[in-house]
Amino acid sequence: AQTQLGVSMVDKGNHRHFMLKEIYEQPDAISHTASHYLDLANGKVKLPSKLPFDFKSLNRLTISACGTAYYAGLVAKYWFEKYARLPVEVDVASEFRYREPPMDAGGLALFISQSGETADTLAALRYCKENGQHIASIVNAQESTIARESDIVFPILCGPEISVASTKATTAQLSVLASLAIAAGRQRGHISEAQEFELVDMLAKLPGAITKALGSEEKIDQISHKLSKAKDVLYLGRGSLFPIAMEGALKLKEITYIHAEGYASGELKHGPIALIDETLPVVVVAPSDDLFDKTISNMHEVAARGGKIILITDEAGAKSVGDDVDEIIIVPDAHEFVMPIICAIPVQLLAYYTAVFMGTDVDQPRNLAKSVTVE
Ligand code: G6P
Repeated sequence: AQTQLGVSMVDKGNHRHFMLKEIYEQPDAISHTASHYLDLANGKVKLPSKLPFDFKSLNRLTISACGTAYYAGLVAKYWFEKYARLPVEVDVASEFRYREPPMDAGGLALFISQSGETADTLAALRYCKENGQHIASIVNAQESTIARESDIVFPILCGPEISVASTKATTAQLSVLASLAIAAGRQRGHISEAQEFELVDMLAKLPGAITKALGSEEKIDQISHKLSKAKDVLYLGRGSLFPIAMEGALKLKEITYIHAEGYASGELKHGPIALIDETLPVVVVAPSDDLFDKTISNMHEVAARGGKIILITDEAGAKSVGDDVDEIIIVPDAHEFVMPIICAIPVQLLAYYTAVFMGTDVDQPRNLAKSVTVE
């Protein structure tokens, strides 16, 4: 009951919802994607088809997408800029398409879309085509309009996603984007063979790390009971985890209807700190990376105002935080490169269990459609 047979043939198996089934499919989906994008025996990225452009001669990468796919694009910006030193612009397609952005011919425009049919993303693609860009897309539906109109398609190969709230497509998009960033880094001379080997190894180990991250399910289920009482929830993250904070907030909004905002931790003092009191849960996505100390000081600011902190971090991070934290969700230790993919799991589970506890329609949330083919 997979890919070609259509939605009606896909069932939930033993899972209560498609969303949970799809969350659980992530280790397999990611290893499937990895087998198409990585040469594991030699520790190299192996792209499924020959590129019709050269990463080396690019001056800019323009990414457009909507919803969750947009957040995947934002994570990719951190990767392409850091590992390939390639300037990246990311925009929501509905803004991009009407902004008349100037583009130098010969640039690369990348579109991320699970369905491959999102109207705004398709319009952004057509704009870029008219403006002489190479058109690449990352899609799940390989027969889609966006795939057809692209010069090159990078499929995510995660199988049909039924739940409106995207989970496995997101992490599969991220793993394809990570592979592309490594390929770009190699071609542009910013990643050595040895570094490529290490980065590919991190991607190869992701299915195991994701399985471990799924192990926090029970703890997250308990935390979700508290979260369900909130009227608003703030999500904070820094660097490549900032988009994951926004993705966590989006997931919660989509399926629980609780108002949530994702903010860059460093922006806390420029506005959202005014919201903090004892009724506001703050989900902080912060593994113990170079910026962890800064995040700890942001958490003190929240705790001092009575805010309730739910910290998503690794073992080392959990050991070094004080009593300020209300709840800790542990993710497996990993390099910062793959952390956005790992930290996507607890934010999905948090939204899922909160929705289940509240009794909302998890797979078909009100007012939302899986694929938005009209403007
Ligand atoms: C809709 C869905 C979102 C999705 C967005 C983009 O709004 O409800 O979950 O992220 O469209 O969809 P796409 O198919 O382009 O990834």
